[in-house]
Amino acid sequence: LKHVVDSGDFNRAAVDVVFKEALKMEKVRPGSPESRVLEGYIMSTLFYEPSTRTRLSFESAMSRLGGTVLSTESAGEYSSAAKGETLEDTVRTVEGYADCIVIRHSQEGSAKRAAAVASVPILNAGDGPGQHPTQALLDLYTIQREIGRLENIKIGMVGDLANGRTVRSLCMCLSMYPGVEVFFVAPDVVRMRDDVKDYLTKRGVKWTEVSDLREVAGLVDVLYQTRIQRERFTDMDSYNAARGKYIIDKELMKILQPHAVVMHPLPRVDEITTDVDSDPRAAYFRQARNGLYVRMALLKLCLADKMTADDLNK
Ligand code: CP
Repeated sequence: LKHVVDSGDFNRAAVDVVFKEALKMEKVRPGSPESRVLEGYIMSTLFYEPSTRTRLSFESAMSRLGGTVLSTESAGEYSSAAKGETLEDTVRTVEGYADCIVIRHSQEGSAKRAAAVASVPILNAGDGPGQHPTQALLDLYTIQREIGRLENIKIGMVGDLANGRTVRSLCMCLSMYPGVEVFFVAPDVVRMRDDVKDYLTKRGVKWTEVSDLREVAGLVDVLYQTRIQRERFTDMDSYNAARGKYIIDKELMKILQPHAVVMHPLPRVDEITTDVDSDPRAAYFRQARNGLYVRMALLKLCLADKMTADDLNK
């Protein structure tokens, strides 16, 4: 059984299989035989935190492949979690109604807890500040599509790196590719956590902490901006110290190399000014669309192809 809970579980063979499938998914048209490969399957979405892209792209992916979506509005408020039901009991119940469960939860480690009791695939749609593995896959897919390679890339990761599950997962995935160099640019209160730095160091990935965004902008192939996540702060003084420090605007875009791209998992608040959107190097809405193809691929592989971790390691 293949759960998708932790980016550290991926290997290059698995990523290659997902990307090959995602490319095919770009061509799936309504009414075609490919648009029915998940007919009869049901995917449940349990979202205890807000989401636009992850939830809707998973739901769209399932619908575009002929499957059905079963969900509850705001699981924390309207599911029986509001009456005190544990995540484990909810998963044990919902697996009786669905063939896979997509979970977003505010607690780090929640997807692993769900996978430990589930008999159907669990897809982690973000567990607090922990991991966002399907985002990391769509980010890799976007880098491959935009830059043409994953090896030997220079990437600047900017913003809320301490709470950023997308950058944490992406770092783990990028460590599979030789020659990757990472520059961390973050306000002091939200610097990248040591576990990720250690993970990269152990795998021989060169990383540097830099305070000048302009210095990094001229060096990189990918500038990966993130939002300062207000909802993760218990202390508003720290939030106010972090916000607004690193903004990508038209002036900064003048420094970026012509082939380089700006990515962002979105949503954004003010960390990329909207006048950057019309620059061809602004890849974040293309990135969000790639989420659909990558999630279509994952659902087909998990459900129709019954891909297992063992299959990928062959
Ligand atoms: N990138 C991302 O996870 O976006 P949502 O919070 O809208 O799902």
